[in-house]
Amino acid sequence: MISFLKSVIAVSVVTVLLFVVACRPQSKTSGKPDLQVEDLLAKMTLDEKLGQMSQIDPGFAGGEEQLKKAVRDGRYGSFLNMFGVERVNEIQKIAVEESRLGIPLLIGRDVIHGYRTIFPIPLGMAASWNPEIIRKAFRISSIEAASQGIRWTFAPMIDITWDPRWGRIAEGCGEDPYLASSLAKAMVEGIQGENLKDPTAVAACAKHFAGYGFAEAGRDYNTTYIPEPLLRNVVLKPFKAAADAGALTFMSAFNDLNGVPASGNEFTLKKILREEWKYKGMVVSDWGSVTEMINHGFCANEKEAAQKAISAGVDMEMSGSSYSSNAKQLLQENKINQAMIDDAVRYILKVKFDLGLFENPYVNPDLEKSILKPDFLDHARKVARESIVLLKNENNTLPLSNKIGSVAVMGPLADSPRDQLGTWVFDGKAENSVTPLHSLKEFLGGERVNYVQGLSYSRDKSTAAFQKCIAAAKSSDAILFFAGEEWILSGEGQSRGEINIPGAQDELIAELAKTGKPLIVVVMAGRPLAIGNTLKNSDALLYAWHGGTMSGPAISDILFGIESPSGKLPVTFVKGSGQIPFYYYRNNTGRPASEAFYTPIDSIPQINPQSSLGYKSFHLDYGYKPLLPFGYGLSYTTFDYNNLSLSSLSMSASGSVKISATVTNSGERDADEIVQLYIRDRVGSITRPIKELKGFSKVHIRQGEKAKVEFTLYGKDLEFFNGKDYVIEPGEFDVWIGPDSDNGLHGEFTIQ
Ligand code: GLC
Repeated sequence: MISFLKSVIAVSVVTVLLFVVACRPQSKTSGKPDLQVEDLLAKMTLDEKLGQMSQIDPGFAGGEEQLKKAVRDGRYGSFLNMFGVERVNEIQKIAVEESRLGIPLLIGRDVIHGYRTIFPIPLGMAASWNPEIIRKAFRISSIEAASQGIRWTFAPMIDITWDPRWGRIAEGCGEDPYLASSLAKAMVEGIQGENLKDPTAVAACAKHFAGYGFAEAGRDYNTTYIPEPLLRNVVLKPFKAAADAGALTFMSAFNDLNGVPASGNEFTLKKILREEWKYKGMVVSDWGSVTEMINHGFCANEKEAAQKAISAGVDMEMSGSSYSSNAKQLLQENKINQAMIDDAVRYILKVKFDLGLFENPYVNPDLEKSILKPDFLDHARKVARESIVLLKNENNTLPLSNKIGSVAVMGPLADSPRDQLGTWVFDGKAENSVTPLHSLKEFLGGERVNYVQGLSYSRDKSTAAFQKCIAAAKSSDAILFFAGEEWILSGEGQSRGEINIPGAQDELIAELAKTGKPLIVVVMAGRPLAIGNTLKNSDALLYAWHGGTMSGPAISDILFGIESPSGKLPVTFVKGSGQIPFYYYRNNTGRPASEAFYTPIDSIPQINPQSSLGYKSFHLDYGYKPLLPFGYGLSYTTFDYNNLSLSSLSMSASGSVKISATVTNSGERDADEIVQLYIRDRVGSITRPIKELKGFSKVHIRQGEKAKVEFTLYGKDLEFFNGKDYVIEPGEFDVWIGPDSDNGLHGEFTIQ
């Protein structure tokens, strides 16, 4: 009897083992993700499928034991904000070795502009117009993040916006779809690297899909109404670039888009992303954006929210349990179908197979040595330098001579290691920041630096230290004032109605200007501020954004001419909030303003007489031009543009035309220039912008030398959506090659 029992037990043990082994992904399909996915999917229970569709922050798992049990039971497919070699490996081990199917977890985190080595905020990086150095910056960020177990980052954020009141303008690539598309490609390639199975490869996440940057009044999470031509011709362009660059994931946005929240929007998530673009990556919701559809008034309850998000194609729910709590019932009630669940799980599993997580689920502790490597910091300094935009330089105040007797260093951002890192910094440390004050002391020697902070933080309204600042200015050869915003004044949820330089900074700068000393202002901020007063009062002004860990040395390099500033504005600078929205690629209107018809509000004896004739489109107080145009940026040298030339004066829609110009460095020093190509479609089946960026090239030209810069424009580059179709329409086009969106050599051509 006993021997019979033994044999029964033996057989059943073997059976169980075979069953367990059979459930694990089979090596026979290894290397073919789709077959592996199908093979694994076939073995999964509904609970395990719903588990993969759920992502949670460990802090919300109900405690350590509950977290581990949930992982063991396959109730989560992903964690965000779990990091650290030991911690990730500990939890991953439970998933891989103790759950029934051993499906590895996907660990995500916001690594938006650096992990520990922090680069300038993305808006600042965009000012470099340099995809190469940006690609490398994101590669470095992934190497550091992956060393801590992070294999998915919720970047790049590529929301176009026209509204600097919106705090998240800091995270994006500015107002232009062409520049943002070029940088989206570079960011995705940097994040994911050359080989997705490399342990430093991290899945990118194009966000926030779609239209989040058009929040009304720049108030975060606010309603967006975006006509389809604007959606397709502007908003979606960077996302298409990210998809084409192979971004493994997308993130659905918070905003209500034309009455349908983006996380339940079948038009964007199914028609455009899946049907038109044939996108095969995974879509994750934003944090709670599925159940927020209840607040939107688009869903009555969590069950309906789950139904609409799953039906629209949001594959994974970030920080919510509406899927796991309601999907079974929705299936039983035929409100969703099994194919929707299976498709979602396929997309999720494919990311994990693509990243090689089944073969290598654990973090190699050796990777940790890469954090804050000297060459990473050097690159952060280079990116910060190229992000700096010279906006004014009267009488060549800059560069300063290193023989200068002494400088008065002031302002709330001069020595603020956390502020200079900017928003969306989870893992960067202020202790690693090198501030402008520190760099200046290092460069000049402490005895030549007279530091008086003047204002203790950017919003400080106190005038108590004004006299001390003025005294320090009078006893120095030049004033370096570090103005701007604390990091908390931009980023998610941090929108501002007024976009002036906060606190009493403008007033203090105005007082310092009265000393007659050379006044150099460096602005470190998370958005384009209304800097008109300070621009007027300063002799020179550098816009350094929140420049990251190495912002200080980068600013010093530029101040003392180690390198000439080369940055150009990725966003229009307005005179004040009243001018918003302002973007260079605006339509012409039926009454375009010009100097001839502009009557300033302070004109005397009176402003416009009562009449309906001759009026144009402008503000009596602001006029009709911004403070500074998109693409603007000065240099320590001068560049002259000549000899615009076109290979042909006409082309077919399927053809191309080469457009070139000669750029001469007519100044005293070598420097980079970002040469820009703009076009205008003069007449269209819908009204067309007065200018559109269609190319740029950053060229290094030695002093006294010249370079021929050539662009090839294809008919396809002129395609646009006219409300019904994508068209390339015949007609006359203007073309410019120049230093910014306001100036350039003009030419014209036609499309037959
Ligand atoms: C936030 C942001 C999103 C981020 C996510 C995870 O609310 O909107 O950009 O990736 O939640 O932190």
